[in-house]
Amino acid sequence: MSDHLAKVWYSVTDLPVVEGNGCVVRTADGTEYLDFTSGIAVTSTGHCHPKVVAAIQDQATRFIHSQVNCYRNPIVAQLADRLADVTPDGIDQFFYCNSGAEATEAAVKLARQATQRPNVIVMDAAFHGRTALAMAMTTSKTIYRAGFQPLPAGIFVAPFPKAFEWGVDDETAAARALAALEHLLVSQTAPSETAAIVLEPVLGEGGYIAAPAAYIEGVRAICDRTGILFVADEVQCGFGRTGRMFAMDHYGVRPDLLMMAKGIASGFPFAAIGARADIMERWPVGSHGGTYGGNPIGCAAALATIEVLVDDGAVANAAARGEQLVTALRALQPTHKGLADVRGLGLMVATEFTTADGAPDAARVSAIVAHCLEAHHVLFMNCGTYGNILRWMPPLVVSAAEIDQAVAAFEDALTATAAA
Ligand SMILES: Cc1ncc(COP(=O)(O)O)c(C=O)c1O
Repeated sequence: MSDHLAKVWYSVTDLPVVEGNGCVVRTADGTEYLDFTSGIAVTSTGHCHPKVVAAIQDQATRFIHSQVNCYRNPIVAQLADRLADVTPDGIDQFFYCNSGAEATEAAVKLARQATQRPNVIVMDAAFHGRTALAMAMTTSKTIYRAGFQPLPAGIFVAPFPKAFEWGVDDETAAARALAALEHLLVSQTAPSETAAIVLEPVLGEGGYIAAPAAYIEGVRAICDRTGILFVADEVQCGFGRTGRMFAMDHYGVRPDLLMMAKGIASGFPFAAIGARADIMERWPVGSHGGTYGGNPIGCAAALATIEVLVDDGAVANAAARGEQLVTALRALQPTHKGLADVRGLGLMVATEFTTADGAPDAARVSAIVAHCLEAHHVLFMNCGTYGNILRWMPPLVVSAAEIDQAVAAFEDALTATAAA
């Protein structure tokens, strides 16, 4: 590795990969690895899907930077029209940016303008990015904020309903978390001062936990009563990851704002927020923007990605492969101590590990990830505040045989890492 490269990036592996296609990445010497990280839930259509590559190549020959303030390339509106088709009802205008953190910044700036209120509520164990405001909204681990204080003010934290961790059922977790949210609104941030509740309907970095339906419905009811905006951060759980185009589609609840990034353009840096038109129109012209937002190559990659997800059936595949995966993983639980919980929606699946006395077992997860890499050439990552969850986030085009291959590697790792 070059001494000229910053050392700040945490690395899951130091594999010198040079190419990838589908669910496989290759190093310079031709060694292949089955990639169940998807570059952190990004390569929704797999690495270098031919339709996405063709769209990028074609667009690059015609226009690389058609800056949105200077002129309007029709592809910018074409993507907005397509997004309006595939996002939840009521989300009908779109703003483009380049990363999930930028989507967070944009969503909060819009919510503040639209409501003329200052404060934002986020969830415990949330991850919304690493820029200053997004960092203040990220509560999944102290590493993201230690040394960077003081953080921007006006952020209040409510508990996310974590049934497994709390040792209760979904209904109880939802009721408890809703009561805490109501308490926050009378004790710390008055509704009249609260612009938005920002939440990941399926918690990502914080542990791959789908919020119970009663919780999402309860948050919607609180927002309707108070005028607070419901902002769904679907940066990780959106774009087919959960087996529906958006996680909110599972709940039948409309968000006021929707944040998108990661899977949106199969790895080309691109992000967007969507909102109801009456909200988006309260954003004063010129009060937000960016040099690169709406880049035409990104728009082309996003349009091709949506075609693969919707028209070619990758979202439906995510639902079917997710069921296959969860069934196979649950079948391992009776014979493998420590595999305390298996949960998931579509291809956003968690396997959570605890020690014999019920404590989070991050060491076991690290050992399993290392074993799968070394003995089976299968790439996994962890998540969760305590690092004791191995998360499953393969490309949405993964085959049934690739799921079997990864589960077999995992099963062998369970045996190899079991306490004597
Ligand atoms: C739910 C969620 N929101 C926001 C972000 C930040 O995205 P980015 O890393 O593109 O800034 C992430 C990244 O993991 C995420 O999972």
